[in-house]
Amino acid sequence: MLRPPAWTAWPPAAYNTHQGTWPKTCSLFLVPFRKTDRITSGKQQDEDIALDTTLRPKRLDDFVGQARIKDNLRIAVTAAQQRGEPLDHHLLYGPPGLGKTTLAHIIAHEMGVNIRLTSGPAIERPGDLAAILTNLQREDVLFIDEIHRLPRAAEEILYPAMEDFALDIILGRGPGARSVRLSVPPFTLIGATTRYALLSPPLRDRFGAVYRLDFYERDDIAAIVRRNAAILHVPVEEDGALEVACRARGTPRVANRLLKRVRDYAQVMADGLITLQVAQEGLARLEVDELGLDEVDHKVLHTIIDKFDGGPVGIDTIAASISEDPDTIMDVYEPYLMQLGFLQRTPRGRIATRHAYEHLGLPPPEKPESAQKGLWNTD
Ligand SMILES: Nc1ncnc2c1ncn2[C@@H]1O[C@H](COP(=O)(O)OP(=O)(O)OP(=O)(O)O)[C@@H](O)[C@H]1O
Ligand SMILES: [Mg+2]
Repeated sequence: MLRPPAWTAWPPAAYNTHQGTWPKTCSLFLVPFRKTDRITSGKQQDEDIALDTTLRPKRLDDFVGQARIKDNLRIAVTAAQQRGEPLDHHLLYGPPGLGKTTLAHIIAHEMGVNIRLTSGPAIERPGDLAAILTNLQREDVLFIDEIHRLPRAAEEILYPAMEDFALDIILGRGPGARSVRLSVPPFTLIGATTRYALLSPPLRDRFGAVYRLDFYERDDIAAIVRRNAAILHVPVEEDGALEVACRARGTPRVANRLLKRVRDYAQVMADGLITLQVAQEGLARLEVDELGLDEVDHKVLHTIIDKFDGGPVGIDTIAASISEDPDTIMDVYEPYLMQLGFLQRTPRGRIATRHAYEHLGLPPPEKPESAQKGLWNTD
């Protein structure tokens, strides 16, 4: 298998970390590139950092939606506090911008303990992680973002730490090498990932609780918009908040970003109040359609439909056709298109559904049922 050269990060976006392959079209002159500044992307961008921190709810009661996760967390936190023990290790996964980091902070706050933040790519050597673990205080929360990117050797340090609150250190080399066990303070690991499938089974199994964050209902996003408008001292009418919510792709981070843009529009073009009309006009300028789909979503769907007869077509082919990074399509665009029922993943590739044709105003596909029957026949 061809691996990316260790001595350089170039071309970072062309290497498909999901399948360990280079796209077939990769050449010196055609390298898919990352577009990181899309308004509808749930991924954190530079402009979000300050906003994320200001608007991040601090307590479980202020965390809108995800009712099942909140209920379970409330019980787990209360039980751990009553026993005087650290909370179980938790794994949070789901598309970007849905509240994984926020929940990790909330858990630490509700437990009344400190949170230490790190991420998979920040830990280069096992020693980096060992140093963090030995510096924890009893019951601290250790938050590892992008935990699927933890190097394998560091991951192995984590196993005894999670199970027995111990570190196994190997001293010396060869036949004289011996293992020494050091204890670490009892702690809670909270891992976050957008790629659950990339996590190794032994790591997954060591989490006491695993939660998948789902896209939010429109009314929940509207509640987040109203809450955040109040924090930012922006007057917003009910219809205005709902309009922003409709286009936020069920993602709080996108809602925050849209609110910020509409606030600017309301301030400059109206009297500052976000009404339905102000929200519609402001959002129309951002070229986000009424379901929150932007140019890239449209390109993905049109590529499948126009160039590949509705599919099935592989993700690398779609990515190369629209000069987009396959990982970004898988992390950001595909989950929402699948949630809308516009796209299906099959063993032979992606297909556009009848709903996608309808949304794009195209005639429905011919013989969709017989076409789809063969999709699951993998022999
Ligand atoms: N349930 C919620 N209620 C209110 N606001 C929320 C909620 N979830 C997320 N937010 C808002 O969305 C922002 C982004 O959330 P957060 O950073 O926790 O997402 P994430 O899942 O960690 O994303 P990434 O995968 O990019 O790390 C937060 O700063 C907060 O303002
Ligand atoms: Mg995060």
